[in-house]
Amino acid sequence: MKIKLPRFLVRKRVKDESAKLGAIDSPVDVEPAKPIVSPEKLRLSIVRGDAKLLETYPLYEPWAYAYITEDLSAGTISYVVYEIGLTPQEESVYKSIVDYIMWELEPPKTHVEDINSYISSFAKRAIRFFQLKLGRTPGLSWSKIGYYIERNVIGYGLIDPLMKDPNIEDISCNGPGIPVYVWHRKYEYLPTSVVFKTSSELDEFVIKLAHLAGKHISVAYPVLDAILPGGHRVAATFQKEVSTKGSTFTIRKFREDPITIVDLISYGTISPEMAAYLWLAMDYKMTTLILGVTGSGKTSTLNALANLLRPTYKIVTIEDTPELRLPQENWVQLTSRPTYLVSGVSEIKLYDLVKVSLRYRPDVIIVGEVRGEEAYVLFQAIATGHSGLTTLHAEDIDAAVKRLTSPPMNIPTSYIPLVNIALVIKRVTKIDESGRPRPVRRITSIWEIKDYEKYCELATWEPIRDGFKVNLRESIVVEKIAKMRGVDVENVIEDIIKRKYILDYLVVTGKRSYERIATYVSNYYYKPSEVLKEIGFKER
Ligand SMILES: Nc1ncnc2c1ncn2[C@@H]1O[C@H](COP(=O)(O)OP(=O)(O)OP(=O)(O)O)[C@@H](O)[C@H]1O
Ligand SMILES: [Mg+2]
Repeated sequence: MKIKLPRFLVRKRVKDESAKLGAIDSPVDVEPAKPIVSPEKLRLSIVRGDAKLLETYPLYEPWAYAYITEDLSAGTISYVVYEIGLTPQEESVYKSIVDYIMWELEPPKTHVEDINSYISSFAKRAIRFFQLKLGRTPGLSWSKIGYYIERNVIGYGLIDPLMKDPNIEDISCNGPGIPVYVWHRKYEYLPTSVVFKTSSELDEFVIKLAHLAGKHISVAYPVLDAILPGGHRVAATFQKEVSTKGSTFTIRKFREDPITIVDLISYGTISPEMAAYLWLAMDYKMTTLILGVTGSGKTSTLNALANLLRPTYKIVTIEDTPELRLPQENWVQLTSRPTYLVSGVSEIKLYDLVKVSLRYRPDVIIVGEVRGEEAYVLFQAIATGHSGLTTLHAEDIDAAVKRLTSPPMNIPTSYIPLVNIALVIKRVTKIDESGRPRPVRRITSIWEIKDYEKYCELATWEPIRDGFKVNLRESIVVEKIAKMRGVDVENVIEDIIKRKYILDYLVVTGKRSYERIATYVSNYYYKPSEVLKEIGFKER
């Protein structure tokens, strides 16, 4: 197979096909960043008393820092990216090296696992070559030049420092000349000092994002929904085709290590008891709906719950963009495919994938998010004995059922009781030790579905004490599992308590990775007494 370089790196060699479709050329951003707000200006306004520095931390030491500042008159908080700029001499060397890379970089001759590290090592060799060529260069920082080359050639250019900040969950740009916004874990939405000044700069950047994702965006196909290297989800629009202010993009940053059930407990999103109950529910293939608004944490919760499924279960996941990450081996990951009008490639929808998934004899079908006709097929699959796990944009159970039973999903009301459990995750505000409101996520309700319009609230979040109330003794699911096992309800509750102890143990000992959790889940199935002995659980 011929290995290709990202297209923005080969523009000088190959005539880009996208040009035919009205896309413009997409060169590497060769202009190194100049800080929009200099630290001097910032310092001055702090000294004058107009602004307050809330916090600062490095993004890439020693070249890039985040300054979180508060404008005292307006009361607004901003995110300032400060990068140490290049000197004129460094800038000219930087430009020569970028030019050299653009001309000399050849596609790899043999298969490479990671095209980015291939380019990165070529860039390092290019820098070394220039170091040798130029000899002694007093006052010139090669490490700073290296930073800008990495940022602009391999990285995300202007927004690269934002991509490096682990506190940032989303990065979005609503058009040229408007500050790029970020969703910060501590401060929620913040405008940043990063601005794409002109439409062409933003158009080029959006094309670069599409190419990095191995996709295409142009006047002919002005909408992009794709995954960037590193798993970041990107949605973008091109020029003014569908977005009035010009090109736009939004990136949901991917976490290297997924949020696990142990994290959810540590963050206070869920109580150990609720988590143990859901673990048991996963074990007994209870169909579960995860509800919430955009960005509330639905997919993360789905992933954390799927991590608790029995290792022997056959799992098929169906998504538009591959976001889920599971440790189970018996897992088939299917993703839909958009249509490309000119290439004659047919579209594969979630609907088609849910249909085909039944051929895989799955124990559990996980649909990343149900929105349309695929919901109907999923419910048919559940009706024929499969277990379903999915997310839905809805604020509560009533809204969810209304959506499910209306077009385009059209689920008959008689199918609603096929769902055993629904839970909702919300972003709520908590006042931290310093008296500041801080956004946190909480699973504010878990319902059990008795029948259409008959929902029992098993667990609720109580805002005043920031705690949860759980009523296992009234649980329909617990009763159902007791019947399946041929035991009494107390016996099932005892099992939930054991699982809670295991989860508590994992939280206290910091064993939070999804692989670690999978090991404990698996061991609890095969050698429960050993696990219980390890965690010091004493039978009553
Ligand atoms: N319980 C949590 N605590 C802290 N951060 C969380 C939690 N759950 C999710 N997040 C973070 O919130 C962001 C959004 O999460 P996620 O993608 O799961 O949301 P979503 O509801 O699926 O969003 P969308 O509606 O866009 O699909 C991610 O950056 C994720 O890391
Ligand atoms: Mg999601």
